[in-house]
Amino acid sequence: LRNDLGLTPPMGWNSWNHFHCQINEKIIRETADALVSSGLAKLGYQYVNIDDCWGESSRDYKGNLVANRTTFPSGIKALADYVHSKGLKLGIYADSGYRTCTGKMPGSIGHEKQDATTFASWGIDYLKYDNCYNDDTRPTIRYKAMSNALQETGRPIFFSICEWGDMHPALWGANLGNSWRTTDDISDSWDRMLKVADLNEVYADYAKPGGWNDPDMLEVGNGGMKYSEYVVHFSIWAISKAPLLLGCDVRNLSNETLQIISNEEVIAVNQDPLGVQAKKVRMEGEREIWAGPLSGDRIVVLLENRKPWSSKMTAHWDDIGFNSTNTVVEARDIWEHTTLATRVQGKLTANVEARACKMFVLTPLTN
Ligand code: DGJ
Repeated sequence: LRNDLGLTPPMGWNSWNHFHCQINEKIIRETADALVSSGLAKLGYQYVNIDDCWGESSRDYKGNLVANRTTFPSGIKALADYVHSKGLKLGIYADSGYRTCTGKMPGSIGHEKQDATTFASWGIDYLKYDNCYNDDTRPTIRYKAMSNALQETGRPIFFSICEWGDMHPALWGANLGNSWRTTDDISDSWDRMLKVADLNEVYADYAKPGGWNDPDMLEVGNGGMKYSEYVVHFSIWAISKAPLLLGCDVRNLSNETLQIISNEEVIAVNQDPLGVQAKKVRMEGEREIWAGPLSGDRIVVLLENRKPWSSKMTAHWDDIGFNSTNTVVEARDIWEHTTLATRVQGKLTANVEARACKMFVLTPLTN
């Protein structure tokens, strides 16, 4: 969407994966505080996004959405002011049908202008727009109504289309939104994480600055995967130019979780200005090579071993996009934070542990 937003994938946090409906304004404020005190805000995690369950179950007498009086007693405007005072941005959630997915809040169908106006007046910076309880109107029509309404407010609001991939939103999302879900929900498991990663990968050609494929939010730190599995999860999201929306409780981060999500070199790959999504370039069963171009003629390559035992893996230059096998590169291992002592030509081989990955940024050398 040409609204000058999402020129690189959005980064921040969303309440759903960890808290589901158990949210309140204190959690949101403390999350904003934690993003700043942990240093994550400085690394780019700027959106604080409230998902489903923030509102009353019916509109007020004027037909406006209202914040839940028990859990968000100060109202959303006050929360936006607070989040903005920390240098962060506030996101909210609505639905393109009659009810939100939990059924706990009214949907926005038929109220698009009114709700967009409300969100803008509260100072909202990001809207995730869900797909439940719709009336079978084509999503292009429902999502366009809200996209137009948001733009008419004059406030820059990142528009996240949450259509789950059924109607291939990658094919039409770029005209209406800044990101579009390509899959149904992720869960905090290795198998499900890989499943949504794979579903998202096929749409790689549709991602570009201003509009991104969205394989759903991060589960890193929620406890269902091992350390190396979360490293794979974060790596795939980074090279896929996916939104990096944390889905854990950032008020209680383990050192391991913080280490993964605050890897500046991996974040820089995600935020690279070229904005090209990496693809699978070679598959050998459960051993996969993913690669994609970065600015400055560099290439990022992921050696991803899904097998339960370690394996030697090789990335070949003609697979990953160097136009000559003679190209000599400097290889930077961006999880180990080391540059290989020897220069590499034609291919790069590494041993990859079980259910783990290696990630390299390759910089061509001119002699
Ligand atoms: C379905 C979405 O895909 C989830 O990410 C979450 O927003 C829930 N709905 C909330 O009900």
